[in-house]
This record gives sequence, C-alpha cells and structure tokens, in this order.
Amino acid sequence: MLPFHSTDFIIFSVKKDVILKNFIVFEGLDGAGTTTQAKILAESLKKNNKTVFLDAEPTPSPIGELIRETYLKKKASTTMLALALLYSADRENHLNNPDNGIKKRLSEGSIVISDRYLYSSIAYQGVNIDPLIIENLNNYESPEYVIYIDTPVDECLKRIDKRGDEKELFEHKSFLEKTKQGFDRIFSSLPCGVKFICLNGLENIDLLSQHITEFIKA
Ligand code: TYD
Repeated sequence: MLPFHSTDFIIFSVKKDVILKNFIVFEGLDGAGTTTQAKILAESLKKNNKTVFLDAEPTPSPIGELIRETYLKKKASTTMLALALLYSADRENHLNNPDNGIKKRLSEGSIVISDRYLYSSIAYQGVNIDPLIIENLNNYESPEYVIYIDTPVDECLKRIDKRGDEKELFEHKSFLEKTKQGFDRIFSSLPCGVKFICLNGLENIDLLSQHITEFIKA
C-alpha cells in the first residue's frame, strides 16, 4: 500500500465558504484560557435574554468521550490519522446530529458557542499529518465568529502545571510550539465572511472578556 499523498484527499465541494450565522468559536492552545472566556461570553449573552448553547470539542458524545478518556489520557495508543478521523467524526456529529447538533440549535434561533472547532484539528493534527489532508477531512461550514486567544506556550504550560492533572497527549512544549505555528498559518487566510479576532492571552480575564463582548456586538 502506498503512503497517503495530499492529492488522495482532494474534495470537490468546499463547504468552508458557507457561514453559519450566530455560531461562535473559541480557539487557542491548551491552557490559553478559551474555556473561561467561552463561559463568560455565554453568561453575558444569556443575561441579555439570548438562548445560548455552550459546547466544546471533543464533545460529550460517545465519539468525543473515546477521544478524551482513552486517547488524550493515553490509556491506549493509536495512529495520528485515526485520531484525526475521530476528531472529524465527532465534529460531523456535533454539527449535524438531528437531535442536538449545532445546525439544529441555530435553526431554532439559538446562539451556539463552541470551545474549539475544526481549526484545532488543522493546528494540532497538522503537526504530524499534511494540513491539507486534515483540511479535506474537515470539509465543514465556517462559524460566523472566530475568537483566537493567543497565549505564549510557556504561559500555557505554567497554567497546565498549576492544574496538577496528569499531562494529556498534546500538552508538551515542542508539540504546542508547532501547534501555535499552525494556528498562525490558518488564521492568516480564513474564508471572507468569517469575523476574526486575535486576543493577547496574557491580558487579565476581565479585559479579555470586555474585548470579546465588544467584538460580538460590533
Ligand atoms: P481541551 O479543550 O484542552 O480540553 P480540556 O480543557 O477538557 O482538557 O481539548 C482537548 C485536547 O484535544 C487539546 O489538547 C486539543 C486537542 N484537539 C485536537 O488535537 N484536535 C481537535 O480537533 C480538537 C477539537 C482538540
């Protein structure tokens, strides 16, 4: 069997130019502060009487749980391509699940916030696999807003250490440095129509959340 080439995965219908209105995505390295800021934004929108669903990827679905509990916690090994396929499958379900998927929620008039989306796949899985292959595995619609919390790797590692938990699969310096380069590359060429902001993750929590609220209102 020949190894994979980027061209093996060329797809013919590109969905990333379709923008899902009222879908907000937070991205950043492990320890960047996305989870905190996603929660603050969800609460502030709820206070303004909006219906908001706050989600995260990997999701709590059986596919997401497999990723989180087995592979991220290093209870079993697998290949990077298998993991990339699992992240993509989790995302497909997150978007299109007929009972509780993102598109269903949006069609009912809700705002959906996701702590991570396909940009995490391109940045993280793109460290070991050609990012073009990962992009093709993630032929999904774009969110209306992308909020990137750009926190230096050393600061992320300090915060991860402070949590005191066992380190997960990707939580080490050399990997996160490459992931950061991936994020920088992806965010320099987002589809037009995606509203993007890059924030300094070293700013304090209140200041960051103010910037985010202003960005979403604008
Ligand atoms: P994370 O948001 O750090 O979860 P938690 O805060 O609960 O630890 O996400 C889990 C890990 O999965 C993180 O290292 C990033 C990684 N990841 C990918 O590698 N690819 C993806 O597509 C996604 C969504 C996450």
